[in-house]
Amino acid sequence: MSSEVSVSGGETIDRISENIYGHFAEHLGRCIYGGIWVGDDNRVETNDGIRMDTVELLRDLEMPVLRWPGGCFADDYHWEDGVGPRDERPRRRNLWWTQGRENVPEESNQFGTDEFLRLCQLLETDPYIAVNVGSSTPQEALDWIEYCNYDGDTELADRRRENGQEEPYGVKYWGIGNENWGCGGRFAPDEYADEYRRFANYFNGFDNLMNAESTEFIACGHLTDDWNRVFFENLNGGMEFGPGTFLGMGSPFNLLDHFSVHRYYQAGGDVDFSDDQYYKMFARAEKIAGDIDRAAETISDFVPKDEVGIIVDEWGAWHPEAKNDNGLEQENTVRDAVATAGVLDLIHDRADVVSMANIAQTVNVLQCLVQTDEEDAWRTPTFRVFELYENHVGQTALETSVDTDVESFEAEDHDVPMVSASASKGDGELFVTASNRRHDEAETITVDAGTEATVESATVLFDGKDIREYSTKDNAESFASSDLSVDDEGDGAVTFDAPPASVVGLTLSE
Ligand code: AHR
Repeated sequence: MSSEVSVSGGETIDRISENIYGHFAEHLGRCIYGGIWVGDDNRVETNDGIRMDTVELLRDLEMPVLRWPGGCFADDYHWEDGVGPRDERPRRRNLWWTQGRENVPEESNQFGTDEFLRLCQLLETDPYIAVNVGSSTPQEALDWIEYCNYDGDTELADRRRENGQEEPYGVKYWGIGNENWGCGGRFAPDEYADEYRRFANYFNGFDNLMNAESTEFIACGHLTDDWNRVFFENLNGGMEFGPGTFLGMGSPFNLLDHFSVHRYYQAGGDVDFSDDQYYKMFARAEKIAGDIDRAAETISDFVPKDEVGIIVDEWGAWHPEAKNDNGLEQENTVRDAVATAGVLDLIHDRADVVSMANIAQTVNVLQCLVQTDEEDAWRTPTFRVFELYENHVGQTALETSVDTDVESFEAEDHDVPMVSASASKGDGELFVTASNRRHDEAETITVDAGTEATVESATVLFDGKDIREYSTKDNAESFASSDLSVDDEGDGAVTFDAPPASVVGLTLSE
């Protein structure tokens, strides 16, 4: 079987933001407790409770941004429970993820704001905090931003200093609630617009007080266009600001910087799936393209271009095996990883509208990148894809078309191309990624780079791996990339055999 990937050297999309390679970590199962925070468990090296083996692995990914503390957890969380001396912090139930029931411990609050922000410092990542809208008030959110970012002489800023952080943290990204159509308060879209405006008003006021133009606010959208549209229609609260000044854009009253969508997908089980289900999961993953396109269209009806970016705030495979009582854990297979490559390709294709994407979740939960077990920590196959794709970061995405067979499924509104690809251009360098989704045959792929370029390096992931193979502490290294031999014709045309269910990265220089 053969396919052709054509890169259009002249047609650029936009810069691929580093934030597209962002993460999401929630207080859920063993993501934070066990995966990131082990407190005084001295079986692993820690930085005052934060496990350093996890940090070391994540450092390899140069994580740009980390969203926290939820998820649904966020809208039943009160940040003051998690600051100050750890032995004085209250133990609380959280309504979500069965905490306090079925052998899942209650929230100990040992990992709170200062621990999270220290983790971000260790990872050199931008923190992104989602505040509680559903069960709380703008006052609590305003106090939180003051605690984190205020540089003056107030009780909250002093409390931060007493807790060990002299300088303001400068937290840039603030999410105003999570899934507020569901666990985050079950608001109707017009009600959420009212709540959003109220919270953002105080955040914006704080920003003005601080002369901070770098703080960005995020609304949590829905997958349906109707919901999103009603949200935008009501965001102004019936006020007219004049043509081209939606929400007072251009005035100091800037309410909204990003609008987010969430998408999870599955077909069959994590390792127990049929061949048909193998392909169906790709079809479901690719729905992210439609989610982004629909959100972009809605936004463009209300906001001048480039004013509001789209964040794919939670995304990834969520198999039925991931249940509340196991803390949403599932095996991480080659299938999941190959699907990740396709999602990243389609996001590159939309680099002009996507400002961030956060895979769910960083450690142990859902489609994690790192897994831990007592004193061990290791990379998942999905980690390998993020690592391979790193060369795209900060480059300019190029229009790329793929001529390949397409598999159609009844009842799915998305067909599955057998090859997915994307390309980007940096300083004299071109980077092309291509994945062969066929699980039973190699695919001969010809890349036409659209310019005279020669191959610098070619690597492949998952050569010889079964699609159901998943990472464990003993086999994790076997998912590492290896060199791929290619036929380089020297005029920008490169041909190679992509093994079944594999992901290839090609670096070319012009
Ligand atoms: O990531 C798990 C959950 O999925 C999050 O808490 C919620 O936002 C989403 O429904």
